[in-house]
Amino acid sequence: MPVRINPSILAADFVNLEHDLQRISSADLVHVDVMDNHFVPNLTFGPQMVGRIQDVSPIPLDVHLMISDVDRWAPGYAELGAYSVTFHVEAATDPVAVARRLRQIGARAGIAVKPGTPIEPYLDLLPEFDQVLVMTVEPGFGGQSFMPETMPKLTALRDAVNRQGLGVWLQVDGGVSLDTIGIAADAGANTFVAGSSVYTGGDPTDNIAALRAEAARHTH
Ligand code: DX5
Ligand code: ZN
Repeated sequence: MPVRINPSILAADFVNLEHDLQRISSADLVHVDVMDNHFVPNLTFGPQMVGRIQDVSPIPLDVHLMISDVDRWAPGYAELGAYSVTFHVEAATDPVAVARRLRQIGARAGIAVKPGTPIEPYLDLLPEFDQVLVMTVEPGFGGQSFMPETMPKLTALRDAVNRQGLGVWLQVDGGVSLDTIGIAADAGANTFVAGSSVYTGGDPTDNIAALRAEAARHTH
C-alpha cells in the first residue's frame, strides 16, 4: 500500500509561499488549510489565494476546508482545479450531495471528522468518497499534540474499506511527526498531513523522506 506525505503550508512562511512550495516538491500533495474564522477560530485564506497557490505549486493541491456552509462553497475549490477537496461533515447538510458535485467537477472528494465526531454513520457511505480525514487534533491550529484516542476510528475505517474492497485513502492531520506517524500507519492510515514536522527544524526534503520511511516501515 503506497504512503502519501502531504505537507501543510499552514506551517510555511505566508509571505514567501512560492519559495516554501518549491521546498516540498518531493511530497505527494500540498495540504492547503482553508479556515473561515467561523467553523474554526482561525482565519487563513479563500479561493483567490488557493487559485494562486494552484498556479505556482509544483505538486497538486489537497484542499482541507475548515469552513461553514460547505454545500455552498466547496464546489468552487474543485473548479479551481484542486486535486482533492475535503470538507467537514459537521459543516455539511448533505455530505453525499457535496461529494457527488465535487467528483462531477473532477476533484477527488473527501470528508473530514473532528476528534469528537463518530465515524460509524459514514461507514456505509464510503463508496461516495475518495478520502476520509480523521483529525488527530482539534482543527484550527498547527503545532498541537497528536490525539491517539482518535485511532479506533481509523481502525474501523480500515476494516470497512478493506471489507468493501474500496481504495478510499485514509488521512490523518494534526501532530503528525516521526514519533506519531507510525501509530497512525499501524491503525490503517496511508495519507499523512504534516505541517510543523516538515517545515520546522531541518530541511523539508529530508523531513519528508524521514516521515515517508517511518510510515512505510509501519505499513504492510
Ligand atoms: C489544523 C490543520 C492542519 C495543521 C497541521 O487544523 O488542519 O493541517 O496544519 O499542523 P501540524 O502538523 O503542525 O499539527
Ligand atoms: Zn489540515
